[in-house]
Amino acid sequence: MAPLKTAVAVIVVAAATISISIATLSYFIGNHLSKKNTKSKFSKNKKKAKSNGLVDAIGNTPLIRINSLSNATGCKILGKCEFLNPGGSVKDRVAVKIIEEALEAGKLLQGGVVTEGSAGSTAISLATVAPAYGCKCHVVIPDDAAIEKSQILEALGATVERVRPVSITHRDHYVNIARRRAVEANEQASKLRKLDQVDGKNLEQNNGYISDIEKQSSVFSIYCSGGFFADQFENLANFRAHYEGTGPEIWEQTDGNLDAFVAAAGTGGTVAGVSRFLQEKNPNIKCFLIDPPGSSLFNKVTRGVMYTKEEAEGRRLKNPFDTITEGIGINRMTQNFLMAKLDGAFRGTDKEAVEMSRFLLKNDGLFLGSSSAMNCVGAVRVAQSLGPGHTVVTILCDSGMRHLSKFYDSQYLALYELTPTATRLEFLGIK
Ligand SMILES: Cc1ncc(COP(=O)(O)O)c(C=O)c1O
Repeated sequence: MAPLKTAVAVIVVAAATISISIATLSYFIGNHLSKKNTKSKFSKNKKKAKSNGLVDAIGNTPLIRINSLSNATGCKILGKCEFLNPGGSVKDRVAVKIIEEALEAGKLLQGGVVTEGSAGSTAISLATVAPAYGCKCHVVIPDDAAIEKSQILEALGATVERVRPVSITHRDHYVNIARRRAVEANEQASKLRKLDQVDGKNLEQNNGYISDIEKQSSVFSIYCSGGFFADQFENLANFRAHYEGTGPEIWEQTDGNLDAFVAAAGTGGTVAGVSRFLQEKNPNIKCFLIDPPGSSLFNKVTRGVMYTKEEAEGRRLKNPFDTITEGIGINRMTQNFLMAKLDGAFRGTDKEAVEMSRFLLKNDGLFLGSSSAMNCVGAVRVAQSLGPGHTVVTILCDSGMRHLSKFYDSQYLALYELTPTATRLEFLGIK
């Protein structure tokens, strides 16, 4: 019996050793493969610092089932709650990525100023996160933008320059001024460095003599250590924020079980980053654009040409307000939008967006901004085109709080004949 017991013991030990080795090997292979799967040609992902304070609270937002829309369409309609980011919108991700990439590349230094020409969420997000990186924020906005916008930005510590609205081709368009301000901040910083070298002392130690003219010629602190133009439309850090963040989060939160993604585009960063990531993971996931009135992207996606009805009718100059939605719709191609992988596009109207916002408020308790409402219009359109049983994901970009003076103002809506009247989803053909 003894030799038999020994033989059994040997077999058991050998089996255990083999299974441990297989488990260890598969762990390493699995780990390697999963790392390989998430790494991509577009990633510039560096290891994150251990604890990044406020910045760590950005992203990883909940993906919720929008019950009313899911029940009405027979699809699972999911919304990514980007309004829960600390700066209140999806643009927090973009602000972090733009600043981190600029710091890593040495294009922005601590003590430097990030400039942006934007009246919207990106400026608010940049102003929110810049101090976390030891930087300042300077925002140039058209002087017809709501006064609350500059008040919020100034309260956040940004400097704000309100300028006359002119065409983007004009050198004094607010985006062009913002670009110029970054150059000026760099020139000022290099002048300071030269003075520093000549005196061999720190300027402050030296009573830092700077002429009054030099002080007046600058909109920045005289000790600013340079500038960086965020350039959210063309800077692909915007795309990467979604390709490396929003897209992978959606994939993980759905366990890869989704059929479609839909979003509107303002710079194109969100729709491009998410669509590209999801389609690389599974080419069967359909990605769509929902386009507001006045935007040329619907025609770009469906026919390959940038074109709007409003432009063709020569209405653009007479009526610049083609849509009351904010932050979405484009009439020029951007580097960020060019990265998108889209299967199709839908058009949404202002009336649909207004009705949708009130429907979601009444039925789900969701208080959303105009672009989120338009995205939900898109989600229903996609659900209708795919049929029941599918999972459709969209983005809830910001909350209704930022939209009180227009999108949620009954007098403003009445002026544009957009007073909501629907009781259900009849405005989208659902009884
Ligand atoms: C509130 C809001 N929603 C949506 C968007 C569009 O996102 P993207 O610029 O990624 O296309 C923007 C862009 O500025 C925005 O401000």
